[in-house]
Amino acid sequence: MGLNNFTENIKMQTTDFKNNIEFAKKMDEQDPLKEFREKFYIPIVNEAESIYFIGNSLGLQPKSTQDAIVNELENWANFGVEGYFHGEQPWLGFHDMFPPLLAPIIGALPAEIVVMNNLTVNLHLLMATFYQPTKTRYKIICEAKAFPSDQYVFESQVRLKGFNPAEAIIEVAPGEGEHVIETDDIIAAIEQHKDSVALVLFSGINYYNGQVFNMKAITAAAHSAGAFCGFDLAHAAGNIELHLHDWEVDFACWCTYKYLNSGPGGVAGAYIHERYATDTSLPRLAGWWGYDKQTRFAMEKGFKAIPTAEGWQLSCTPVLNMAAHKAALDIFQEAGMQNILHKGQLLSDYLYFILEQINAKSANPIIEIITPANAKGCQVSMLINKNGKEIFEALKAHGILSDWREPNVIRVAPVPLYNSFTDVYHFGEILGKLIEKVTEV
Ligand SMILES: Cc1ncc(COP(=O)(O)O)c(C=O)c1O
Repeated sequence: MGLNNFTENIKMQTTDFKNNIEFAKKMDEQDPLKEFREKFYIPIVNEAESIYFIGNSLGLQPKSTQDAIVNELENWANFGVEGYFHGEQPWLGFHDMFPPLLAPIIGALPAEIVVMNNLTVNLHLLMATFYQPTKTRYKIICEAKAFPSDQYVFESQVRLKGFNPAEAIIEVAPGEGEHVIETDDIIAAIEQHKDSVALVLFSGINYYNGQVFNMKAITAAAHSAGAFCGFDLAHAAGNIELHLHDWEVDFACWCTYKYLNSGPGGVAGAYIHERYATDTSLPRLAGWWGYDKQTRFAMEKGFKAIPTAEGWQLSCTPVLNMAAHKAALDIFQEAGMQNILHKGQLLSDYLYFILEQINAKSANPIIEIITPANAKGCQVSMLINKNGKEIFEALKAHGILSDWREPNVIRVAPVPLYNSFTDVYHFGEILGKLIEKVTEV
């Protein structure tokens, strides 16, 4: 079966799912991405391959990463500084490899993408440009309980520009007793503050509950209020379908160590819509690597920006980190983003189905799924209302690596490049037994 046939061959509806090993194995047999698991190192627990459901935190290491890094170490050994001009991919233009590879993942034009720094740094850099508060227009509208680093970015940017975070930061929260933030509530908040909002800034997927935000609708609402709109795509890049350019998102940034498998603390990415990326007059925090390439080495006074997203670069490129990123993105290209997206949805739908089956067995289910069924990527988050930590630890002892968030949330993320339907089935089987044990007591 060719990779492009994947969507034709597995046209499953949620109602077709079955909670048995035969079904899971059949799905795995039909999966044209099944061989991609072999391209990754799977962590060992109890002398067996674990079920690694924590690629939403740190994606697994491709087996090709080591060679890619060693190759650059050899170039360094052989050429010294001349590595900037020699080798298969001279370091001077090393980062040029990324925009075409990321364009289908991010849904953007190559000139709108740049790989640089780390996520929080990029968020600050983009806010330096897109958060230009005035006396009347100074508010930032964001989700309540955004990832802490983002909250600190917002707070410090507001203070840096002389405003009070308590007045300037407007958080949109889920309704009373709810876990999901409704798009209508976000749009209503934007409309309510339409005369004073400078920036609307959400994550693409909330890290805690796994909710995918309606980026297109949020962007449109921000623009009609006269505000810029940006997204933190840490949990979205390489996970869900993105069309940043078509949605007219102004800017975005992401890390590459989660679904993009580019290694702990790996180099991050940024997107700036072409209408701004090409505008060299925009205010920014500048560095020499963002300087016009033709005249950069004249080392003259006066910053002249590259007229693409590259114009936001500060420093020369971290080649070893980038070698890891390249190895990981080559796998994405080989697998095809459409195949990855399709299998990712099927896996998380199957996980959702299995969790609902576990709940259906009990009059008082102790699992409460807090990820919306129709607005999710790979991750499903659940509140465990009894003995949560104990269940989480027991899963680990059974070789299932998931993620614990206080006070009682387990996040589980089957990842299409290296997880299988059988992984999801086994997870359900073990979780079901652990829950039976807890509810019997
Ligand atoms: C949504 C989100 N934003 C920001 C960060 C911080 O990323 P970094 O430490 O790479 O700057 C993370 C890290 O997990 C995250 O999940």
